[in-house]
Amino acid sequence: MQHYIVRLATCQQGSCSYPAAMPRIIGLASTKGGVGKTSITLNLAAELARRGFAVLVLDADPAGHAAAIVEAGSFPFQARVHELEEVDGATVSRWAKGVREAAVDYVIVDAEGARGPSFGATIAVSDLVLVPVGASILDMRGAAETVGVIRRHRMGAGKGRPEILVVPSRVDRRTGAGREVAGALTKLTEPVSGSISLRSVVADSLAAGEPVPADSPSGVEFAALADAVLVRLGVKE
Ligand SMILES: Nc1ncnc2c1ncn2[C@@H]1O[C@H](COP(=O)(O)OP(=O)(O)OP(=O)(O)O)[C@@H](O)[C@H]1O
Ligand SMILES: [Mg+2]
Repeated sequence: MQHYIVRLATCQQGSCSYPAAMPRIIGLASTKGGVGKTSITLNLAAELARRGFAVLVLDADPAGHAAAIVEAGSFPFQARVHELEEVDGATVSRWAKGVREAAVDYVIVDAEGARGPSFGATIAVSDLVLVPVGASILDMRGAAETVGVIRRHRMGAGKGRPEILVVPSRVDRRTGAGREVAGALTKLTEPVSGSISLRSVVADSLAAGEPVPADSPSGVEFAALADAVLVRLGVKE
């Protein structure tokens, strides 16, 4: 008997996309907590889904906020808990297989804030790691530390991946630090995306169980981030 794997197309407004054999994997990682990882994960996922891609969010943070918000709300993609409890080789391999074998175009992994088990595993499995960073000195230090961990991983693995995209997050342009954050981040010598501004709609929409409206100023920023992500992954010029 022969077995066939059927991959379903996702169609929206007449345009259809078919999940690739292997998903592109985008990780969200930061050694500092509260920098906007979960907010970016869910709004980026929504923007990619709006473009007709099949997207799965894997919530590797034991706090489980991303999966719980999606389950309770109305989002155009699926999310599930994908916790890594132990760092022994077999468990990490099984966890990574669960990420790589998702039958979607994009998997977005929301890793835990501190350096828990899923932090390093997310970096190791990702094609691209987004490093959200706020405008404070603590955020900058956290971003530098996170970028350092990713670079050491690349050297240890002898691979050019994962790519890095630093994402200025929760940026308040009313403050000097907020206006200068993008310039300050060039010191990290990694690509920096456009900023995600601090706006109540980001917190309020997730509390209401929805992504930000696509036509809101924040929606436009997440769309620009999706463009930057697709460029970093080599999907878009
Ligand atoms: N762009 C934004 N504008 C306004 N509020 C934001 C923005 N991004 C995140 N927040 C708020 O900041 C807080 C932290 O954001 P979030 O939970 O996304 O960060 P996190 O990095 O996932 O945190 P943790 O380390 O706890 O997982 C939340 O209360 C969230 O609503
Ligand atoms: Mg989070």
